[in-house]
Amino acid sequence: MHKREKMTRAWTRESQKHLGRRKYGGQSKAAKSILPLLPKGTKIVEPFAGHAHVSVAALKSGKFSEAVLGDLNCKALTWVKKNRKTDKIKMKCQDWKKTVAQNDGPNTVFVFDPPWKAETSCYTAYRGNCKQVADEIVEKSKSLRGGSVLLLGDTPEHRKIACSRSSKFHCKTITVDSKIFGNKSEWKEIVAIKK
Ligand SMILES: C[S@@+](CC[C@H](N)C(=O)[O-])C[C@H]1O[C@@H](n2cnc3c(N)ncnc32)[C@H](O)[C@@H]1O
Repeated sequence: MHKREKMTRAWTRESQKHLGRRKYGGQSKAAKSILPLLPKGTKIVEPFAGHAHVSVAALKSGKFSEAVLGDLNCKALTWVKKNRKTDKIKMKCQDWKKTVAQNDGPNTVFVFDPPWKAETSCYTAYRGNCKQVADEIVEKSKSLRGGSVLLLGDTPEHRKIACSRSSKFHCKTITVDSKIFGNKSEWKEIVAIKK
C-alpha cells in the first residue's frame, strides 16, 4: 500500500471515530442548513440538547420565540446557560421522554438529535436502548400535536427507520463541512421532517 493511501485510511478511521463521538457541537456547522427546513411554530424543543446549536440559531433568526432544552448531561446544559445569556431558553436535566411529555402542543416543534455513531448507528453515551432510540422517536412523533424533526447520520439503517413510507417523515439530505484537528471533513446527515 502506498504511503498516501495509508495516510488517507488512517485519517478516515480517525475522522469516523470523531464523527461517531459527535456529541455536542455536532450541529454547529449544520444549523444554518437545518434552519430553513424547520416547520413553523413558536416554541422549539430539543430533548437531546447538548449544546443546542439548532435552537440557539433558531432563536437568533427570530423563527422561534422560546426554546426548551432537555439533556441527561447537566454539564452540557450548564455550558449553554453560561454561554448563551438569554431568558428565552428553559432547561431541564432529564430524559428525552419527559421533555417530550411536558412540552407537546400545536405550536411546538421538536428537534431530535439523538446520539449516533457513523459506522453502527449506535452510541455509547446514550443512556437507554441505543438501538431503539430512532425507532422510538419515529413512533412517538406520530402521536405528537407539534412538529417533529429528526437528525441522523445518513446510513442505510437510519434511512430504513426514518425515511420509509410508514415512518410518516419525509427526508432531506444535507452535507456538513467541518474541521477536525485542522483537517477538512465532510459528512452527510438526514433531516427527517414529520409530514
Ligand atoms: C448528538 S448530542 C446533541 C448535540 C446537539 N444537537 C448540539 O448541537 O450540540 C446527543 C445528546 O443526547 C444526550 N443524551 C443521551 N441520552 C439521553 C437521554 N436518554 N435523554 C436525554 N438526553 C440524552 C447526550 O448527553 C448528548 O448531549
